[in-house]
Amino acid sequence: MSYERPNIQAMHGYSSGEQPDSTDVIKLNTNENPYPPGPAVVAALAGLRAESLRRYPPPTALALRRALASLHAVDPDNVIVTNGGDELLRLLLATFVAPEEAVATASPSYSLYDVLAAAHGCRMLHYPLNADWSLPRELAARLNADKVKLCFVVNPHAPSGTLVPAASLQALATDFHGVLVIDEAYVDFVDPELQHDCLPLVRQRDNVLTLRTLSKGYSLAGLRMAYGIGPRGLIDPIQYKTKDSYNTDYIAQQLALAAVGDQPYARSTWQRVRQSRAELRTALAARGLPSPPSQSNFLLASVPARWSAEALYEGLKAAGVLVRYFKQPGLQDKLRISVGTPEENQRLLRSLDALLH
Ligand SMILES: Cc1ncc(COP(=O)(O)O)c(C=O)c1O
Repeated sequence: MSYERPNIQAMHGYSSGEQPDSTDVIKLNTNENPYPPGPAVVAALAGLRAESLRRYPPPTALALRRALASLHAVDPDNVIVTNGGDELLRLLLATFVAPEEAVATASPSYSLYDVLAAAHGCRMLHYPLNADWSLPRELAARLNADKVKLCFVVNPHAPSGTLVPAASLQALATDFHGVLVIDEAYVDFVDPELQHDCLPLVRQRDNVLTLRTLSKGYSLAGLRMAYGIGPRGLIDPIQYKTKDSYNTDYIAQQLALAAVGDQPYARSTWQRVRQSRAELRTALAARGLPSPPSQSNFLLASVPARWSAEALYEGLKAAGVLVRYFKQPGLQDKLRISVGTPEENQRLLRSLDALLH
């Protein structure tokens, strides 16, 4: 006898990239920052006292929210801190979408959206992206016609890495009648010359919230810290009603504060990733594996027809290099490869050369 709700029984869980114990493996499969947390985080960790754990943590992570607010020139009331971006995504559904109502995304995209929607019991609608990964035409009109309550747009896009300009999102937010969640998990890696910035949109509109995470840009995937920036009409109900009272712990708050406070270190890792991204993209293309221009910390490489992407993924795995293969329409002939350190990228290329020849 199963005690699961019918929708839970019917759904499949999220399949995350492999997390091997071995340190020998080159891990280019889950888009972590290839560089370690910075010296400020190391010092904050060393300075933690066990006595601080006796009390509950600040419930809304006020000190961290203040630091983030000052970083982004918004008010602390416009910031919510969550236990990873994944918690924020779940809370968005719990707060703004009734079971049976519809949520949507332009697909393919982050498959956790589907899993969370299935667990919540709401309908998930997919609007296929154009061949160049740009947003589908007339998206707002289609969302409104389908009575979509909330739409996730990941930007830079995952898994292609491409960037939708802020102006396109502005048009979408203006015409769409529901909540637009701009998932900016990878935005730290966008070239600064592009001057890409969706925060003016968040400040102007009452229906736009952006998600940021410390998992990628701040090398803290293991800490589980992320935040949302939005108007109070979207932030307050989550902050004061639907999130757990103490959703982020004291240690995570302290280390996140240290990481956010050391912008020069974080920015230096973003710059190194951008440099390696350009080099890796060129090197992969030279081997017949082109990828769309990425503004993220990964590349979506197309595998030539004479090869199977799945076989290449398996071959790389056997050689100790993990990349991501998605067995789903539109992605079966591709590999998503996180940008590693220059040494890791070289090892990937050597392993590819051995397999391709
Ligand atoms: C598109 C996208 N959004 C959100 C997240 C959530 O990240 P985290 O829960 O580590 O903050 C991820 C993680 O891989 C992601 O790829």
